[in-house]
Amino acid sequence: MFRLNQDYLKLPGSYLFSTIGKKAGAYRAAHPDRTVISLGIGDVTQPLVPAVIDALHRAVDEMGHAETFRGYAPDLGYAFLRDVIAGWDYRKRGCEIAPDEIFISDGAKGDSANIQELFSADAQIAVCDPVYPVYVDSNVMAGRTGTYDAEKGTWSRVIYMPCTEENGFCPELPEKEPDLIYLCFPNNPTGSALTKDQLQVWVDYANRIGAVIIYDAAYEAYICEENIPHSIYECEGARTCAIELRSFSKNAGFTGTRLGFVVIPKDLKSGDVMVHSLWARRHGTKYNGAPYIVQRAGEAVYTQQGQEQIRAQVAFYMENARIIRESLKKTGFTVYGGVNAPYIWMKTPDGLSSWEFFDRLLEDANVIGTPGSGFGPSGEGYFRLTAFGSRDNTIEALDRIRRFYE
Ligand SMILES: Cc1ncc(COP(=O)(O)O)c(C=O)c1O
Repeated sequence: MFRLNQDYLKLPGSYLFSTIGKKAGAYRAAHPDRTVISLGIGDVTQPLVPAVIDALHRAVDEMGHAETFRGYAPDLGYAFLRDVIAGWDYRKRGCEIAPDEIFISDGAKGDSANIQELFSADAQIAVCDPVYPVYVDSNVMAGRTGTYDAEKGTWSRVIYMPCTEENGFCPELPEKEPDLIYLCFPNNPTGSALTKDQLQVWVDYANRIGAVIIYDAAYEAYICEENIPHSIYECEGARTCAIELRSFSKNAGFTGTRLGFVVIPKDLKSGDVMVHSLWARRHGTKYNGAPYIVQRAGEAVYTQQGQEQIRAQVAFYMENARIIRESLKKTGFTVYGGVNAPYIWMKTPDGLSSWEFFDRLLEDANVIGTPGSGFGPSGEGYFRLTAFGSRDNTIEALDRIRRFYE
């Protein structure tokens, strides 16, 4: 008789987005005459840019001819893509990352969930609180997180690093020493960013205690301020302690097209074993690569034209972010984020819980956001709005909020 992986059974369930979906569905069914606007989900709405579409068409045509047809991609990804990434994302920023330290993938969600496989079963992880849930859930599935306290919403073997108003949503070094430290900046959900000096503290700490930082830079393209690092490798010493995850989802609208990459410097070692060689082994065994046509689409992102077009798209979303931030502030809300990230993290009014405010906003303004408590206990009392909507919807949603709360 088969038995299931007991670690999967420990997962508390996808409470957050399914509950949001159910509540929104029930509201729509009860009020078919009202238009509900969602600024809740972190998915893009703008189409792929022309440079990417052209590259996709060309690559599709190549696949239809025997001379240019491609089968399985090389294990690490095509050199044409790894070369432009190494040049544009790293060399241009003064970071020393070689093309063969870059592993092309189908996105950062899978990478952020899978990377834990490389580390021992008893490795202790540290995460920010609130947090992108994949980091914790993937470690739950791997049996690394101990027991769940349903009341607190925490795991006994996870080190939580609260990111609060008091510390400016920048985690403090934990009292207990972790083996793996997940950092995501610019941050989902709080929209905060770390300065280079703040990130350097983490790199020095990880090197000192022999920990690995898994640095999720999925929102790197949204950085607008000068002293915010785009890559952890801008920090001294990061090559010996950090893995970086990147995505084409939010900078170039690839949420449905799927492309990302992992950077593992060859200097990151346990004894004399390179972490790089383990990930290469895993890639070779478990993954057959992102599609050729999608890797060509990714290459087009790094052309002059592609860069101009995707920057315009990011600027469009950041204008939404500005509209949301300014409008909420004018209405009297306390608001964070939205400057180097497409997320606005607002404090709920009148001491309402995150879910109470969700219900109130849906009822009063017919607007959906994401309750902060869904991202971890320190998210209670906060609410996330995203800048990924259309301009009209964003303006309309904020007008409605202003009408009810001014
Ligand atoms: C922090 C963070 N990392 C990774 C991802 C997933 O990226 P991808 O679409 O490349 O899988 C998301 C998506 O919302 C995210 O917020």
